[in-house]
Parts: sequence; structure tokens; C-alpha cells
Amino acid sequence: MLEDTSFAIHPGKEKDAENGPYYDIGKLLDHKKIDNTYFFNCENGKVAIRFYTDIIVQVVMNPTDEPKMEGSRAVIALPENVAVEEQQNEAHLTLKTDKLEVVIKKSPFRITINDHDGRELVAETDRGMGFKKGGEVIAYKVMHDNDHFYGFGEKSGHLDKRGEKYEMWNTDVYAPHNPETDPLYESIPYFMTLREGRAHGVFFDNTFRTVFDMKSEENNYSFWAEGGQLDYYVFAGPEPKTVLEQYTHLTGRMPLPPKWALGYHQSRYSYESEAEVRELAKTFIEHGIPLDAIHLDIHYMNGYRVFTFDSERFPTPEKLIADLREMGIRIIPIVDSGVKKDPEYHIYQEGVNEDLFCKYIEGAIYFGDVWPGTSAFPDFTDDKVRKWWGDKHQFYTDLGIEGIWNDMNEPAVFNETKTMNVAVMHRNDGNPATHRELHNIYGFLMEEATYEGMKDQLEGKRPFLLTRAGYAGVQRYAAVWTGDNRSFWEHLQMSLPMVMNLGLSGVPLAGPDVGGFAHDTNAELLTRWTQVGAFTPFFRNHSALGFKYQEPWQFGEIYETMMKKYIRMRYEWMPQLYSLFYQASKTGIPVMRPLMLEFPDDEKTYNLNDQFMIGDNVIVAPILAPSITDRAVYLPEGEWVELFTDVTYEGKLTHLIHAELDHMPIFVKRGSALMQTDWTSNTNKTPKTMTMHVYASDSDESYRFTFYDDDGETFEYQEDGFLELDIELKSSADSVVINVLQQNGVFLPVYKEINVNIAGLMEGQRVIINGETSGEKHVIPLK
Ligand code: NOJ
Repeated sequence: MLEDTSFAIHPGKEKDAENGPYYDIGKLLDHKKIDNTYFFNCENGKVAIRFYTDIIVQVVMNPTDEPKMEGSRAVIALPENVAVEEQQNEAHLTLKTDKLEVVIKKSPFRITINDHDGRELVAETDRGMGFKKGGEVIAYKVMHDNDHFYGFGEKSGHLDKRGEKYEMWNTDVYAPHNPETDPLYESIPYFMTLREGRAHGVFFDNTFRTVFDMKSEENNYSFWAEGGQLDYYVFAGPEPKTVLEQYTHLTGRMPLPPKWALGYHQSRYSYESEAEVRELAKTFIEHGIPLDAIHLDIHYMNGYRVFTFDSERFPTPEKLIADLREMGIRIIPIVDSGVKKDPEYHIYQEGVNEDLFCKYIEGAIYFGDVWPGTSAFPDFTDDKVRKWWGDKHQFYTDLGIEGIWNDMNEPAVFNETKTMNVAVMHRNDGNPATHRELHNIYGFLMEEATYEGMKDQLEGKRPFLLTRAGYAGVQRYAAVWTGDNRSFWEHLQMSLPMVMNLGLSGVPLAGPDVGGFAHDTNAELLTRWTQVGAFTPFFRNHSALGFKYQEPWQFGEIYETMMKKYIRMRYEWMPQLYSLFYQASKTGIPVMRPLMLEFPDDEKTYNLNDQFMIGDNVIVAPILAPSITDRAVYLPEGEWVELFTDVTYEGKLTHLIHAELDHMPIFVKRGSALMQTDWTSNTNKTPKTMTMHVYASDSDESYRFTFYDDDGETFEYQEDGFLELDIELKSSADSVVINVLQQNGVFLPVYKEINVNIAGLMEGQRVIINGETSGEKHVIPLK
């Protein structure tokens, strides 16, 4: 490809918005208020400002027309009625809510967004906002010396994105995934700025190609789009967690996944026959390794035709799926967006006859090459097409399938541009627009279609979707895996900040291919990666055609035993993880967290790439390089107990921790607790016992958390079919006090009580549960 030659640095090739004259919005001519929106007529364009809530403000600039306020399909919250106080003088107009203020300078027109104390959040530079004649819209913002940037969805490189420049254009990148490789598969044009311990966020809702530049200038950052409007939201925070709550209020939150989706998944491109899949499942059971799902890659299909099974390789899919289900394993088939051009194939026939495929404006169907050869692509921008596609999933649900893996939905096409012709004209629910405008949201819309269809057909059971491509808000429908990584230690390292930043971008259920997709893995790398995988939100081992098989037993018993221990730990930790996923579904706050999310005042956490938190009280510090058995671990404020050695470490210090290959350092904060169960069998994963492990502290510590449980697979939790315990834990020199402040829901779990196990109880420390001194055995009864 030309991009792989020196053509890539051709002098005439730079197409950045920086080139070409910039038209500043100019000075304010007049303004008016209609309903809740302020409209500003400026010399070179029109701007609208609306308070979406008292803490979220939307700014829209349109260089030519009246600003359109409705935004993309990423936005699901409706604007609220917000009380706004106005102040005006010759030079400025100030709009204030209880929580933030917008100061508008009239000449030239410049906006500064402050918090309610007048502290600057987002301010324009001397260039403000404007456009270029090519149609690009641009905003220049002040960058402070101590600004740190997070989010931006799925990006390679480090956690803190200061000094980086990113492009959003969903792209199929088989290789390489380097720190400089950009863009990748997902476009989430959203970021969070952390400045002196306080945070705010910006979501640039524009589905064209967008660019965020925190690199080119010292005191400014900018973002721009190839077309459309400058339409962005500012979230005033002020904590990193509240910024996430505000952003996911606007773009939606992950629905609570079925429990089985949170277990261990095994995949390969491809397990090519029914016999191979049965053998695989049998081996997991025989070896006592927990498994919840096997993924079927493209070989299950008849000539890569979606909604088919190859009758020779997979002669009895229904029976296969039912038999595996008995073993506690579900099947997740891959479904790509390309539909094979074949006049004798029913999906293609329907697509053509009912006019459901993407077309050029002149009327011809767009064809591109993918696995099945020449293919057409459903136009997911149209409601009718989304409904059709969703309904087609009955083919899978009738066979007993509850999960779908969507791949190649950037959409990927095997050509120079890697995707569909940008001139294709999408129906866009009656408002036709080109692929250039809608490319970044194509995958998102495929997920919407698939989720709605699956949900309909599963009649009360929760669907699970996994996607490669997406746009802001994709968390409402699907989990994200980070595409075609490789079996390199560097890719294991890179996966941590990538998944953490996805979490900070509203996508809490994400993970890389454990073991690495392409290239040959090895025993040590796979063992270390499986340890990490046991704690990353989505846990799937996947490898590519032509490379070594990498199931947990492939490198002999020593390594298998180590991996089995961690895969089982995933299940022992499930009550804790599930409670955190529940929290994520309610608040948008991810399960896997960078330390800065919990310790925003601690600068040492700002770019900590090789450690992460599970919830607010566990720090995981994996080994991420070969032959290493000691590593430095930074522990923030508090006292931290290392799980395997029971040694307590002081916080605000860096420690050297020893960890042989069977050991991944995990630290729990003293004064807090973890909920765990026992692993029993693959066929019945329902927890029979529940244990609260308390890590006692002898100093005054108070900790509060919510333990959540339900049937794990239906929507009954949306009524009252759940168990929710609001638990308070207080430690002091002479006691450990546990109080269940509230028990909600009517779900009756198999376990009837919660065993309390107290680690590190000191001589003379009494245990008091719900007001009563506890004897030998500590138990919390359930109502
Ligand atoms: C590309 C995906 O990223 C990969 O995971 C999959 O195995 C291949 N397509 C084949 O379907």
C-alpha cells in the first residue's frame, strides 16, 4: 500500500486543518433566547449555547446555517429546564446556573466556561472558534501547564494523553499496533481534563473525521472536524468520577451484562468444526478450568455468509449449542457487516429486494471486498434496516444463542482506504448524508440494531454483544475488545492504559485478546497475560489463524496450573466484580480504574500505566515483562495488604515487590472488604456460599460499599428481582464494626447468610455486626 512507502511523508499530503486560512467567528452582532437556548449571530457564523443540565453546557457553532441542536444518536438524555441567571455589560454577557457559568466576550466572540466559583474550566485562546473554507470546524482552547488528559476511547500509548494528537476515524488495523498507531477501530471523541486534582470533560459530538491536538502548541489544545458543526458539551465535574457520571448521563450507560459474559471466554480464528468445538469444551471440563463462552469465528459460516452455518463443518449447531449449554458453556458466533453478493443467498436477496443496502446517490449498491468476496453492506443508518437486521438474529436465538460478536464493522473493506467509499449516501433516517459524515457511527448503529433485535427475541434474557467498532455511547449496546493485537509483551503493557482510557470514555466492559491475537504466544507471556485478564473487565483468550494454539493447557501442566488458578480467581471474585459492574451500569464509573480516578490529588497516579484498580479498594500490579520477578509498585494513601503474602505496605511509597510466575501482586486497602464465593463447577456457577473478607485496620477507618446480586441472566432485576446490601465497615483500635445499613430487593440467593472472614484482626479488637458483638463465627444474616 502507498501508505507504507515514503508517499506517507509527501510534502503535499498534509491535510491538517492548520493549513489554509482560518476564519475566526468574529464579533457578536446580536443575540436572542428561544426556549432554553441562546443564539448568537456573529460576523462569521452562528453559535448556540444551551444548558443541558445545570452542570452540562452545550455549545454549537455553525459557519453557515442556524445551529442544529439535536446532535448524533450518541446522545440520549433530554435537555432539562435549567434556571439561568444573566448579567450583561458593554463587553460581556454572563450566563450562570447553580453549578457553572459561561462568560461570553462580545468582541471578538469568545467563550469561557467556569465552575460556580469562577474557576476556569474551558477557555478559548486568542483564536477562539472558527472554520476553514474546506468545511472544517475548529475550536482552540487554553491548555494549562498542569493539565492532564484522559479518555479519547481506544487509543494506543500512555494513560495521560498530554502531548498527543489523535484522529477519530474507525479503522481496521491488523498491524502494527504501536504507540503511534492511530486511529484504531473505535471513535469516542470525548476526553477528561485533570487540573490540580479537579476534573472536567468535553464531548465533541461530530461523526465526521475529528482530530484532537494536545501536542502541537505549548499553551493551547484544539479539536476540529472535517465537516459538520462544532457541537460540543462541557461537563463541569469537579471530580473525575462525576465527570464520567455526567458524560454517561448524556450518552448512556452499559446495561448490566449477564453474569456469564463476565466469565472466561475462549476463542480462536477459528475453531473450524463441531468436533473441534466439542473436544475443546470437553478439555476445559476435564481439566477443571472454568469456561463460560466459546467464540465461533468466520469458519462456522457457509462461505462466510452471515446468518448461516456450514452444513459440513457444523452439521448440527442446535444440538452442539444445547450440549455445551449443559456443560455451562455458551456459543458466541461472529457476525460481520458485509453480506455476500450472491443472488441465491436469502439475506442478499432480501437486502436487494427490500432496498436495505448502502448505495451511491445515483442508486447503485456499494460493493466492497471482505471475507465472503464481493459484499454489500446494510445501511444501519436507516430505522427500517436496523429493524430488519435485528429481526434476522432470530436465526441465532432459535438455535439457543444469547451472545453475538460483531467484527469488521468500521466497516472494514479490503481496499486502499480500508473502508467504504466516502461518497456513499446513507439514508440516515430520512436525512441523507454521506459515508464521510457517518462512517464513525456505522458500527455503533450495527450494535444498536443487533442489541434491539437480540433483546426482543431473547424474551427476558439479557443479550451480550461484543464489538470492534463504535462511537460514543456504544456502551449502551456492546462490550469492546481492542482488535488485532499481537503476542508481544509490549502489547500486554499497552493494553492496560488502553482499557483504562476506554473505561474513562464510558465503556466499562472492554479487554484485549488475552495472549495476543497474531504472532506466536509463549508460556510465560500467556501466563502473565491470563493473570491480568482475570482482572480486566472483558476476559477472552483469542488467537489468529496460522499461529500457535493458546488454550491454557498448550504449554504443559506447570503453566496450566498457574493459569487455572487465576481463571478460577475470576469466578471467586465474581460477587465483587458483579457488584462493580452493577455500579458501572448505574453511574458509568468503570470496574477497572486508573489510580488517578480514586486519587486525583496524587500526582504520582497521573500517568501510572502499569497498575490499575478494581473498584476503589484493590490495586493490581501485574508483571508485564519477561523473566521479571520483582517490580516497583506505587501505593497511594492508606495501608495496603498484599493478598498472597498478607504483608501490609505503607501508602504514599513505592515498594519493591517479589512475584514469581504464579503470583500477581494484588493489594487490598486496610479497613475495606471484598465479596467472594467459592468456585464449584462449570455446570452450575450459581454461588452457594458468600464470604465478605474484611481487611481489618487498627486505625480509624470507615468504608462503605454496595454488594449486589441477582439471577445473573434476566431483566427481573429491573423490577425488584435483586439483592442489594448497603454495608458500612468501621475499624478502630478496639473494634471492627459492620453494619448493613439497608437491604433492598426480593431476590433470594442460594446462600442464606454472608460469612465474614476477618484478616488481620488484632488482639483485643471486637467484632460487632449489626450492633451485636459477634462470637467465634462471624455471620451477616440475610432477611
Ligand atoms: C478480525 C478480527 O479482529 C479478529 O478478531 C478475527 O479473528 C478476524 N477478523 C477473523 O474473523
